[in-house]
Amino acid sequence: MMNVLIIGSGGREHALAQKILAGNRCEKLFIAPGNAGTAQVGLNVDISVTDFEKISEFIKTQEINLLLIGPEVPLVAGLRDFLESKEIHKKLLIVGPGAHGARLEGSKEFAKDFMQRHQIPTAAYRPFQRNEYEEAKKYLLSQPLPIVLKADGLAAGKGVIICNTHEEGLAALEQMLVNRQFGAASESVVIESFLEGIELSVFVVTDGKDYLILPEAKDYKRIGEKDTGPNTGGMGAVSPVPFAQQGFLKRVEEEVVKPTIAGLKKDNIDYKGFIFIGLMNCNGSPYVIEYNVRMGDPETQVVMPRLESDLLEMLEATAKGTLSNYQLKVSPMYAATVVMVAGGYPGSYKTGDEINGIPENTSKMKVFHAGTRNSECNTKVFSNGGRVLNVTGLGDSLEESLHNAYEGVSKIYWKDACFRKDIGQDILSMQ
Ligand code: AMP
Ligand code: GLY
Repeated sequence: MMNVLIIGSGGREHALAQKILAGNRCEKLFIAPGNAGTAQVGLNVDISVTDFEKISEFIKTQEINLLLIGPEVPLVAGLRDFLESKEIHKKLLIVGPGAHGARLEGSKEFAKDFMQRHQIPTAAYRPFQRNEYEEAKKYLLSQPLPIVLKADGLAAGKGVIICNTHEEGLAALEQMLVNRQFGAASESVVIESFLEGIELSVFVVTDGKDYLILPEAKDYKRIGEKDTGPNTGGMGAVSPVPFAQQGFLKRVEEEVVKPTIAGLKKDNIDYKGFIFIGLMNCNGSPYVIEYNVRMGDPETQVVMPRLESDLLEMLEATAKGTLSNYQLKVSPMYAATVVMVAGGYPGSYKTGDEINGIPENTSKMKVFHAGTRNSECNTKVFSNGGRVLNVTGLGDSLEESLHNAYEGVSKIYWKDACFRKDIGQDILSMQ
């Protein structure tokens, strides 16, 4: 039996927490800082994800055996390295890469150089620093349209701009490099060619030697229906992805996953954790759009409900380097999640609205909390963020899973709640 601490407070962490508890290997489960949903499955701890000293102290006093780091910020900031440098945490099992491996997400240039070095297919690109503004402009004007600009560092999913004209490109370049639109994150940029195709995400878990491929997912990034409006953290997701046929997934494994794991070894990056690979299917060939060094949110909310094997056992094997002994079992069921957000998101929005009607979980429908908090005496739930709740439906078909998700959504109410009504519709219309 193990004591587990999960770092984070999103729907991803609620889904991970619930799956860990569904097994029978967890003694005590803590989530820092957590939300009103994680408070139902474990004990929330009021520690910020970047307060490494407090996290370390908590791990010591509560005799935590396994630490699962959910979001990218503490990974990129080196939480793993910080804990590993302390003798008291010698036996602590940690799932999540150190700062070196986390650069795959923390720096677009690092990730692109990694892909190039290890012959992993990706869009052609060139990086530019702040003092190379003139060269960057020239390069941009010489490229065909559309063209993609990426802030090098973490920008909460907002640092990618797809430009349809050179004027737009020049304006975006000036915003990033000269006006530091994303602060330090845009002191350097990557300019890359546009990939035409259908996107999907593949999740890998690795102990540094072996790897397992978890169920794939498709997410819906834009706020508006039919993929319009600004990007968000994610408005919904489905898994499996019917257009990801076996032949394509095999190519992903051979051309992307294997060289990625081999590349980490060659570069002496000791990687124990998840790798979330954003892919474009360009006429049947996979190209990597990005690496993330964690699970996706809201993708986790459709991947975890499909996992039939014990999650904590998988996490333990990942941290110990014994993943080759783990038997992954995945349900053939479909899962679809709909994200309910606060009105105004991803722009400014209100928090503190009382949420009513959250249904009980069933075998066909599960609610995962994101930006929520409990009232003082735990009798009410209030909104506390932009993305507030995720409702995951399960079914034998995509239609059924969507039906079950939207049925759950229809019962939930708070002032100005919004959600996309078209999750999964693009896939259904392809069939
Ligand atoms: P990223 O933050 O790298 O995931 O980029 C955000 C989104 O921008 C991706 O999910 C894609 O939809 C889009 N994107 C990024 N790079 C490209 C590219 N080279 N070609 C086409 N779309 C892209
Ligand atoms: N859903 C995209 C992400 O987690 O980055």
